[in-house]
Amino acid sequence: MRHSYKKYAGLACRMLFWMLFLSFVTAGCGPFQDVAPDVHSEKKMPDEGENLIVVGFSQLGSESLWRTANSESIQEALTRENGFFLEFSNARQKQENQIKAIRGFISQRVDYIMFSPVTESGWDTVLREAKDAGIPVILVDRKASLEDDSLYTAWVGSDMISEGEKAGIWLEDYLKEEGREEEEINIVVLQGTVGSSAQLERTKGFQNIAKEHANWHILKQEPADFTTAKGKEVMEMFLRNYTGIDVVISQNDDMTFGALQAMEEKGITTGVDGEIILISFDAVREALELVSQGVINVDIECNPEQGDYILEIIRKLENGEPVDKENIVEEKVFTQKNVDEYLDTRTY
Ligand code: AHR
Repeated sequence: MRHSYKKYAGLACRMLFWMLFLSFVTAGCGPFQDVAPDVHSEKKMPDEGENLIVVGFSQLGSESLWRTANSESIQEALTRENGFFLEFSNARQKQENQIKAIRGFISQRVDYIMFSPVTESGWDTVLREAKDAGIPVILVDRKASLEDDSLYTAWVGSDMISEGEKAGIWLEDYLKEEGREEEEINIVVLQGTVGSSAQLERTKGFQNIAKEHANWHILKQEPADFTTAKGKEVMEMFLRNYTGIDVVISQNDDMTFGALQAMEEKGITTGVDGEIILISFDAVREALELVSQGVINVDIECNPEQGDYILEIIRKLENGEPVDKENIVEEKVFTQKNVDEYLDTRTY
């Protein structure tokens, strides 16, 4: 009797262990969190007779505060009340997961496919399959470089070349104001995901301005994947390998938070009264607070609130109206001079 109690207790313990382990892993906390796309629909499937527009959305991941705000904006716009059934899939920063999700949407014969391409290249085949199935594709946030532009119907996102140029123009003006325009200026850049339009275009935009200044020296540009952890790691590497850094450019706020940790640990100050000029991108609330405190000099906005633009595009398509192929969202530049008037209303 005692023996079989022990046996069942052991079995129960093992079962409990595996249940906890599996719930930990499926909650996205475990070692496999980057492996499979996380497809979920928060709402129940449309009932028969319910005339909902079914949209499959492959979001590239959840690497940044910006990305979370972008997902929320889309989920808040494409609601059941607005006539939509949204199937949301998180690709966990892997192109293969996005391709798998898009193929899944095609086989479900959704009404629209939306996706935010993790990198620019490699989409022709799967988008041809969507086109052959007669499903319109809307690109969100980032761009895809395609042989045939008819493979997508519309794109909603930011002009990221212009974002990079804004960073360069701000630096130009700031150095002039500070009387430093003739000084030799050493710059390091934390870049986003390699091959993403955010990384390629912000880099290109900044270089368009930097090439006009022979005294600006880009010491190193290094990818840090748009994450805080990588941002810290890459900034530590910059500090180990380079002296005399005047400017840190970080292609998103999450990497900026990591870079700041690395600099603080070395006692290095940044911002309006600091040793290093700090330029960031995105302008999420936490970063704008640091702009207000003078820790970040300037934050170039990348606007994640794209849901309403998408809603309008789909409504037009449903009514058989023409839509613009390129839909650029509005964006600002924040410094200590103007940030406080926007902080109160910043929701992300
Ligand atoms: O594509 C937009 C970029 O991707 C944002 O700057 C960044 O935070 C995100 O991860």
